[in-house]
Amino acid sequence: MSRICGTEQPLVFRDSKNTASIPLLQDPIVNLDHGDPMMYESYWKEVSDKYGVSTAIPGFQCLSYFANAKGLCWFLEPKLEEEIKRLHNNVGNALVRDCHVVVGTGSSQLILAALYALCDSLNEPHPIDVVSAFPYYSSYPEMIEFVKSGLFKWSGDARGFDDKDGRPYIEIVTSPNNPDGLVREAVVNGQGGMLVHDLAYYWPQYTAVTSPAHHDIMLFTASKCTGHAGSRIGWALVKDEKVARKMVKFIEINTIGVSKEAQLRVANILEIVSLSCQRHKPRELENFFEHSRNLLAKRWRKLREAVENTDIFTIPKFPRRYCTYARDFTEPYPAFAWIKSKEGTDCEKLLRGQCKTMTRSGERFGSDIEYARISMLSKDEEFEMFVRRLAAIKM
Ligand SMILES: Cc1ncc(COP(=O)(O)O)c(C=O)c1O
Repeated sequence: MSRICGTEQPLVFRDSKNTASIPLLQDPIVNLDHGDPMMYESYWKEVSDKYGVSTAIPGFQCLSYFANAKGLCWFLEPKLEEEIKRLHNNVGNALVRDCHVVVGTGSSQLILAALYALCDSLNEPHPIDVVSAFPYYSSYPEMIEFVKSGLFKWSGDARGFDDKDGRPYIEIVTSPNNPDGLVREAVVNGQGGMLVHDLAYYWPQYTAVTSPAHHDIMLFTASKCTGHAGSRIGWALVKDEKVARKMVKFIEINTIGVSKEAQLRVANILEIVSLSCQRHKPRELENFFEHSRNLLAKRWRKLREAVENTDIFTIPKFPRRYCTYARDFTEPYPAFAWIKSKEGTDCEKLLRGQCKTMTRSGERFGSDIEYARISMLSKDEEFEMFVRRLAAIKM
């Protein structure tokens, strides 16, 4: 846990009439730095209590490395593949027809698998440039630079990228985007471009599902779809068989497959989410996406009110769009708030000092210190504590 910056002014909590001043020094630090999806815990607690969702696996099962010896992705549990396809068909956010499903240990593993698969067969003398429009997900540069691959290298903001007469490059398109929640398309559009679409947040609780995505490589993750980050299950929908096979090879060499227990647990969870979306679902089973969307809508409303109370911060507004899943115009409620503080101030430092809240500095996303990313997916108590403190900031 990082230290609270000693140079900040002391924390003071004022009531609505600005009279009482209660020092907050004993109050806990709120950590909204990571996108840890604990918001979903209450839904799953209720569902687990009612439906006894458990994936107790007897000791004699799941011993083999193999799950599907004849399939392209030999370690993918058939039940998980079935539930992934069913859920996409129910939600209408991706075309699964003609796609190969590759499972990974989180979509983090699949990002590197996809980069390897796209670059390996090119036999380029130099590492291929990987770009993403800023502000970009902070893990892309971190994971790409960390592996020091000879096949690809991080080349930063896609907007300033020169595709040099058709030389190959990879653009990662994150839509809706982490950190700013905006819907995005590729920006370079050069001849040599290969695209990886990271659609971790293309689910109806966060954004309007406007049409089924059908890109060459699409990445999804249980971490953001259902909140099961701890299971470490992500999946890729891949059109090209050769690329899919190379991704499978990467995972084979890297981790010899993906935990079967985790796959079966997520299959079970996805099955319940699909069931909750059915018109003839059990009455007590609340629609997962509606429930999650309502929770996020409440949080965004509270955050907007708190921000309006200060004249220090601003947060983006989003256009309403028609959601084919909700069959209505809906407002986006992103998993992160991309907050900006007044010109020349360090937003992350301000929130750390004044609200005792850890957030992630804009600098980590290729932006500047006036911005910070705040997770909207924490537990209720933490979120409430944060907005109370934010509304009470006086400078
Ligand atoms: C855009 C995006 N892609 C991928 C990931 C990685 O998710 P995981 O490895 O948990 O599946 C995250 C996690 O925050 C993310 O925000």
